[in-house]
Amino acid sequence: MRTPFMAGNWKMYKTAAETTAFFEKFLPLVANSSHCDVAICPTFVNIPAAVAAVAGSKVGIGGQNLYWAKEGAFTGEISAPMLKAVGCQYVIIGHSERRQFFGETDATVLKKTVAALEAGLTPIVCVGELLADREAGNTEAVLVEQFNGGIAGLSETQFAQIVIAYEPVWAIGTGKVATPDMAADAHRTIRAQVEKKFGADAAKAVRILYGGSVKPDNVKGLMAQIEIDGALVGGASLDANSFAGVVNF
Ligand code: 13P
Repeated sequence: MRTPFMAGNWKMYKTAAETTAFFEKFLPLVANSSHCDVAICPTFVNIPAAVAAVAGSKVGIGGQNLYWAKEGAFTGEISAPMLKAVGCQYVIIGHSERRQFFGETDATVLKKTVAALEAGLTPIVCVGELLADREAGNTEAVLVEQFNGGIAGLSETQFAQIVIAYEPVWAIGTGKVATPDMAADAHRTIRAQVEKKFGADAAKAVRILYGGSVKPDNVKGLMAQIEIDGALVGGASLDANSFAGVVNF
């Protein structure tokens, strides 16, 4: 049985004061939500405020990116051990916005995933097709390519510690949610790749989250799919009531 996992990706939103205010409202709303794991991934500068706010609660904190070297002359970058030291449990890797705007590739996704695991972080590794891919009937091919170019490079032991997020790019921030059936289809494609590469037990165990316009009013339908193990939530995670509505689906 896979424990559901609801993670909020705050992208480039909120100040430290807004981060603290969010958790004051949010934590009481999820205090009894023992049915699932919960995480928030704020901007780097707000991680300390978030870590302080969630102390003693069940909510974990994650980064939104990292650089694979442990330290060095890499101006503007942040390493996995630094995220771990500041109190992170998770890190998002290969988000489509990183791929689209910051040159992330399947190869860098693999390097970053390995670095995260070496530091003891749980990577949430993102894959997903563009609208043009879906319209051309290439969704499956793109997912397989991203899997093979990135995740497939892990060892079995490494793979056992990651979470995968399927985020169709056309559904991110657009209000266009994939139907539960579409999402489940994509998750089956990914899980089949996992089975091929890492075996049936690994395929059964890995959590695959859906991301793309998840809201309190559509999460129930998505979570009714046995294939969908949770959500990676952007916009709806910025508001305490709305993210609590997702967590308490
Ligand atoms: P939205 O929920 O705002 O569509 O964003 C999804 C996402 O990109 C989460 O990583």
